[in-house]
Amino acid sequence: MRNWHLSILVLFLFNILLLSSRPKKFIFIAIGSAPENRNRRDACRRSWLSWRCPNIAYRFFTEHNTAENEQSVSLIVERQTFRDIEFQPFPRGREVMQGARFLHQASWALSHYEFDFYLKIDDDTLLCVQKLQDMLGEKRNKFFWGKYWCKQDRSYPDESFMLFSTDLLRFLVENREFLLFDEEVSMAWNFGFLSRFLNISIFDDRNGIDSQQGYLTDFLHHPGFNLTRLMVSDLSFCNRYLFSHHVDSTLDMRIFKESSSTPSSRRMMIEHPRDTCGTKFSIIPSRKSRKLPNIQIRTI
Ligand SMILES: *[C@@H]1O[C@H](CO)[C@@H](O)[C@H](O)[C@H]1NC(C)=O
Ligand SMILES: *[C@@H]1O[C@H](CO)[C@@H](O)[C@H](O)[C@H]1NC(C)=O
Repeated sequence: MRNWHLSILVLFLFNILLLSSRPKKFIFIAIGSAPENRNRRDACRRSWLSWRCPNIAYRFFTEHNTAENEQSVSLIVERQTFRDIEFQPFPRGREVMQGARFLHQASWALSHYEFDFYLKIDDDTLLCVQKLQDMLGEKRNKFFWGKYWCKQDRSYPDESFMLFSTDLLRFLVENREFLLFDEEVSMAWNFGFLSRFLNISIFDDRNGIDSQQGYLTDFLHHPGFNLTRLMVSDLSFCNRYLFSHHVDSTLDMRIFKESSSTPSSRRMMIEHPRDTCGTKFSIIPSRKSRKLPNIQIRTI
């Protein structure tokens, strides 16, 4: 009996030790990446991930289980070399089990790091990390940052950039059984629905996030774009913007170089999608999910 108590105590102390020894960071960045996207991961590593941000931790999450033999070996080598890859056990395919993937990555991050914000992005992106840090400033609660699709009955944040305060992330991860949550469809779609019922502040960033709802730049989306024609000031992407999606891995590195040391001039002006999208801020959750309800949710 005594021994039994003792081992519970040891286990308890061990857990406390484990939890309190998690490295403390300001932001954790989870980057989804298919096994074959080595070129994209390298483009991130030699561009924005190389800008020194000691308060930021990141991981690429990819599948090792579905990789071909040769690819499997090179993935393992890449993982050992950079120590920035985590393997996740999901079937092949970008569209499969997206919600479950999100929850898996978030749980991994929560158990390995302590952080104030969690950002989920894709691997074909350019992120002004210092600027993100500056704009966030300090810890916030009940907060989400993204860019919504202003589409009738399909209004939800784009998947390429989703930032959560840690309390909100933890709430979603820990209550996955109790929330109406469809693990088959993306977290973006799930959150487009769930966020209507949560008392949180949402920053629908129309001016900083350069993504497919309406691109803000040309030069980041056309490989081979003649940069010489642009003024150097236009090359400082981070001066005006924060994040770009669908950035080709062969893109001219001058954009990243010019951008790297720009101090932030942007302040956070929180705008709710209710205001940015107006009457187009409505969603019918069943439009992309077999599990979620077939009702129209609108703001009045
Ligand atoms: C919503 O959150 C705000 C800020 O955290 C709080 O002041 C307010 O009481 C909350 N409203 C409800 C209905 O819980
Ligand atoms: C790019 O533009 C510059 C200035 O207009 C021009 O001199 C140069 O030849 C162009 N390069 C290519 C590859 O088209």
